[in-house]
Amino acid sequence: MTDPKLPVLISAEKIQARIRELGAQISADYPQGDLYFICILKGACFFMTDLARAMKRDVSVDFMGISTYGKGKTSSGEVRLTKDLDISIEGSNVVIVEDIVDSGVTLNYLMHVLDQRKPHSIRIAALLDKPERRLRPVHVHYSGFQIPDRFVVGYGLDYAEKYRNLDDVCVLDAE
Ligand code: IMP
Ligand code: MG
Repeated sequence: MTDPKLPVLISAEKIQARIRELGAQISADYPQGDLYFICILKGACFFMTDLARAMKRDVSVDFMGISTYGKGKTSSGEVRLTKDLDISIEGSNVVIVEDIVDSGVTLNYLMHVLDQRKPHSIRIAALLDKPERRLRPVHVHYSGFQIPDRFVVGYGLDYAEKYRNLDDVCVLDAE
């Protein structure tokens, strides 16, 4: 859906075109071997399902739940694992699929957690990246769009669990 009150930052068309590029790029980078997308709930599930369908090869999926933000716009600074993987990633190629990298606290933590499980390789795909806000180093191998320091919603991203099902990424700064 669309919300006429919210200014669009990245249109649904641009998002889908970029995802097709990322799907082709990731497919080319992993010509063989098993490949797992690990979707970080809940925000990334919209991105992950479109990215998986943009792939030119088979990909398996699993989900992890991480909580950092509570209900507001600012981080609590505390990372909590709310749902773990169902599968073992030992020896597998893993791409963590995230909606947005902001401070980097979540993904920095997650990289350490998953590294200990001895995957063959591990990379990050993030639809959005706010590099200005970084507090912890995170290397985003597959980045959809770099955006300025604005609070955005839509295409999976929420404010207090609202707006996730907008087709576009919109700006919510004014509220
Ligand atoms: P980080 O740990 O600060 O990098 O936070 C990453 C998480 O914060 C993301 O997975 C989002 O859930 C949330 N987040 C960061 N910026 C935004 C935003 O602009 N809109 C909605 N959620 C955001
Ligand atoms: Mg998230």
